Amino acid sequence: MNTQSSPIALDPTGAARPAEHTELRSHGPAVQVDVLGVRAWSITDPELLKKLLTSKDVSKDARAHWPSYEEAIQTWPLALWVAVHNMFTAYGSDHTRLRRMIAPAFSARRTQALAEFIDATVTTILDDLDTFPAGTVIDLREYLSYPLPIGVIGHLTGVPPQQRDAFRMVVDGVFDTTLTQAQAVANSQALRAALDDLIATRRAEPGDDLTSLLISTRDEDSDEGQGLSDDELRDTLLLMISAGYETTSNAIDQAVSLLLTHPGQLAHIREGRANWSDVTEEALRLEPPVVHLPMRFAVNDTVLPDGQVITKGEAILASYGAANRHPSWHGEDADTFDVTRLTQEHLSFGYGVHFCLGAPLARLEITTALRLLFERFPDITLAVPAEDLVALDSMISNGHQTLPVRLRPLPTQAAR
Ligand code: HEM
Repeated sequence: MNTQSSPIALDPTGAARPAEHTELRSHGPAVQVDVLGVRAWSITDPELLKKLLTSKDVSKDARAHWPSYEEAIQTWPLALWVAVHNMFTAYGSDHTRLRRMIAPAFSARRTQALAEFIDATVTTILDDLDTFPAGTVIDLREYLSYPLPIGVIGHLTGVPPQQRDAFRMVVDGVFDTTLTQAQAVANSQALRAALDDLIATRRAEPGDDLTSLLISTRDEDSDEGQGLSDDELRDTLLLMISAGYETTSNAIDQAVSLLLTHPGQLAHIREGRANWSDVTEEALRLEPPVVHLPMRFAVNDTVLPDGQVITKGEAILASYGAANRHPSWHGEDADTFDVTRLTQEHLSFGYGVHFCLGAPLARLEITTALRLLFERFPDITLAVPAEDLVALDSMISNGHQTLPVRLRPLPTQAAR
């Protein structure tokens, strides 16, 4: 039952956060919002969100559970988020089947085996940065936040280095919520073309990578109904590549920005009162790379604790950003960056069956990047006032358009 007459329009540019989180929470645990023309329930109360994310009455399968699906894929700029054929949009046994194929590649053991590769990748990046004269301003997103996760996911999925730039542009487009419907359609086509190129390359020349593994699953098991369809193969790679790098890039960007604007928090690390994992978790809590996650759907009518009803077929938005800052969870200072916070829990990797498969990998990448960056460049500073950092054009993704820093002070400043 819809009791609210006009939904709150979410800001597609991301510029209005965190005031938007506060406004959404002020309406109670669930409030109706307008997501680029589609009406949905934004859930901001962490307990309610966890309940819905673990309920069989909530699904991510738009084809099966969203009456507006056919119309939305023709008109909604975020259509790709619900139209892909992979675990991200699957429900029940389909989800289990699609997730099981990939999950072993992200086990704790396989992730730990990547530690050396991640360390070496960051070290090579920092060696390169070390050659710049003192005082040089660089965009840390370009030099570290992007290349590290792209390098790692490219390595895992066997994307040849010359195909990586093509992916970057189109993956950025998936998260850009200021694109028109026509631009979003063109972007989705370009992304699928890049994936078809990758599949053709690895089919011709298989390697020890996830793409080659999925191709052999597709080719060997498809007749028995256990394997992957062509769409599932392509869209599973789409998920790995886009989830694998955009989010991690923004997590590194946000953690570095927070430390550079909160020197007292950095001092906690330097003086042993907190560690890099504390910084990572607190940055993920306060500035989650995925702020709102589109989209889920009510399989049956669901009565909320405040008596409102999410009617069967209505859309649900997991508003992780607002939930992570909920005072009921993190107290009145929930908006404060505090690496010594007693409870660092957050929902930034989701919750329930769709919990992020790459969370251990992302954590390893972020902590390694932070540790090696601040060890190598202890005097790193922001090169612009914090208020000049501009948010990415996205209501989903949470990062900055650029992150200008000075790795070492100008010689004149250093001498003072
Ligand atoms: C800081 C970095 C990351 C963040 C914040 C993040 C966040 C998330 C979130 C919120 C979800 C759950 C979506 C939902 O509500 O249904 C998710 C799912 C997923 N993530 Fe991540 N992610 C990160 C890094 C990665 C990496 C590095 C990979 C792998 C290469 C990855 C792969 C996935 C996959 C495959 C799913 C879908 C799981 C499913 O539907 O069963 N993510 N991620």
